[in-house]
Amino acid sequence: LDEHEFNTLQLDQHGPLAVLTINRPKALNALSAETFGEIAEAIDLIMDNAEIGALIVTGAGDKAFVAGADITELSALDGVYAGREASLAGQDVMHQLSSLPIPVIAAINGYALGGGLELALACDIRVAATNARLGLPEVTLGLLPGYGGTQRLSRLIGIGRALDLMLTARQVNAGEALQMGLVNYVADDALNKAREVAESMLRHGPIAMSLVKEAVRRGMDTSLEGGLEIEADLFGMAMSTQDFKEGTAAFQAKRRPEFKGE
Ligand code: HXC
Repeated sequence: LDEHEFNTLQLDQHGPLAVLTINRPKALNALSAETFGEIAEAIDLIMDNAEIGALIVTGAGDKAFVAGADITELSALDGVYAGREASLAGQDVMHQLSSLPIPVIAAINGYALGGGLELALACDIRVAATNARLGLPEVTLGLLPGYGGTQRLSRLIGIGRALDLMLTARQVNAGEALQMGLVNYVADDALNKAREVAESMLRHGPIAMSLVKEAVRRGMDTSLEGGLEIEADLFGMAMSTQDFKEGTAAFQAKRRPEFKGE
């Protein structure tokens, strides 16, 4: 992964952990069309690399995770068609990210606004730095969140809190974000904490974790009965893996399991 060159982001590999860093310092890491294209490329590289077991998404520098969609680019768009296409294109990349079969952790340093918060919402777990500021200020621009925010935020924290954030456009700090379930952890150094969380996950069965993600995500789109059926099907798949045999054998032998993802 390290060898691939990007203009607006950086993709690094540390053993089984990949770190994707959005890097457009002059625009507080705002998401341009080029950045979306590069995120999609990075996702493809990660998908093709069987060594990678977890991904951290973060922003370069201390000031911002991502300050939203690139407002300069947005302002050049005009009309129903262009807006709809911009939204669909961004949604597609967020969907690819959230569909990765490995744990994806957002390390939120500084501002995560608009499309930046939507990027964090497409991750599985969010770690906020103590200086983080999170919000969906689109209505201040005469817009609404367009990269999945109206849907993912209300599913995550409930519609009351989601509507409050979207209609007031207010920013919440790390403490309030933690209290409302918008982030999972707060730490002085978000990237370091995200690494710690990733490392704890990397000890677990990779197939089992991908099945957890699939059961939870597919279950969100269906009835309880439908979701329970999905769970039972995926449970059956998990029981047919070598990892399950290894996990139970290790428990009985009182040793650490060595999962192979088989
Ligand atoms: C383009 C941006 C930007 C953005 C900041 N910059 N955010 N450029 N798009 N989203 C640029 C500024 O223009 C400025 O460039 C430089 O980054 C530093 O930002 P400042 O504003 O000078 O910093 P500061 O005063 O500290 O304020 C920080 C901030 C503010 C509060 C984060 O930058 C801000 O409000 N940004 C916009 C946040 C926002 O509204 N995001 C939502 C976008 S809409 P110069 O050249 O002047 O130095 C969205 C919609 C998604 O995301 C859905 C679409 C379909």
